[in-house]
Amino acid sequence: MILSEALHSTNHTLSAAGIEDARIEAELLLCHALKTSKTQLYTETERSLSSAEINNLRRFIQQRLLHEPTAYILQGCEFYGIDFYVDYRTFIPRPETELLVEEATEFAHHFSSLENQLIIADIGTGNGAIAISLALAFPEAKIYAIDISALALQVAEINCRRHKVDKQVELLQGNLLEPLTQPVDMIVANLPYIKECEFRDLSPEIINFEPVVALTGGEDGLDKIRQLLEQAQGKVNFRGCLLLEIGQGQDKTVTLLLNSYFPQASLELIPDLGGINRVIKVLF
Ligand SMILES: C[S@@+](CC[C@H](N)C(=O)[O-])C[C@H]1O[C@@H](n2cnc3c(N)ncnc32)[C@H](O)[C@@H]1O
Repeated sequence: MILSEALHSTNHTLSAAGIEDARIEAELLLCHALKTSKTQLYTETERSLSSAEINNLRRFIQQRLLHEPTAYILQGCEFYGIDFYVDYRTFIPRPETELLVEEATEFAHHFSSLENQLIIADIGTGNGAIAISLALAFPEAKIYAIDISALALQVAEINCRRHKVDKQVELLQGNLLEPLTQPVDMIVANLPYIKECEFRDLSPEIINFEPVVALTGGEDGLDKIRQLLEQAQGKVNFRGCLLLEIGQGQDKTVTLLLNSYFPQASLELIPDLGGINRVIKVLF
């Protein structure tokens, strides 16, 4: 089989199985099976695949047809323009979370002008994508990356080493803010916020593969956020900031919660590209 045929048949198989963006996924799986670049896919169209490459490709297609997310098959994903390792031990970072990093970056720039060392806590760090993106952008900052899942922290550790921020980012296992031994200037959190009743409607890629601990937030989806706010008293420095990612339609309830916990703080809702209020910023 030559490359152009492999691309055509992979695309055909995936799209016949109803997989969205079949062409893009076919390119990714083929690049991974052949350990080659996308450019080579289109410049070496006549190249023959070895039997080992064909076997790899067949295995990846099989995994994808069983709804395994492509990021787990590739053991990698891009977030905020950075390549991260990811596997079934942890949640796959989503593009919408880049907004959280953008807002954190804006606050960090403002804070850096005050010439103090910035201390950040990323709560529910997963594979470490948020913490590491911020560590790379602000090498002087101290960053705590916390997760309740020991398995997720193993993946975060791989990423910290890959990006050489393992000294700057301290990984801590525990419940939300409990492991923090000092107040911080900024808390960033993308915690599970899916309502229990909505869980069953999610795609098989999510339900069957991603860790449940990363997804559900109880009846109204806000259990973890509520707990975090209960713990946050005294954990954020004066003029510090809390940035939370929230789900569609949760903005009003979270605003009410924040007003009751922190009546003096100023709040800002930040919409994503689809106009959904995705991030809530609290300035203390
Ligand atoms: C939606 S995932 C986000 C992962 C990562 N921050 C990202 O944006 O890609 C939520 C993460 O919160 C973690 N988590 C859930 N409950 C937690 C708790 N009580 N304390 C700390 N982390 C928790 C999960 O293990 C998971 O890694």
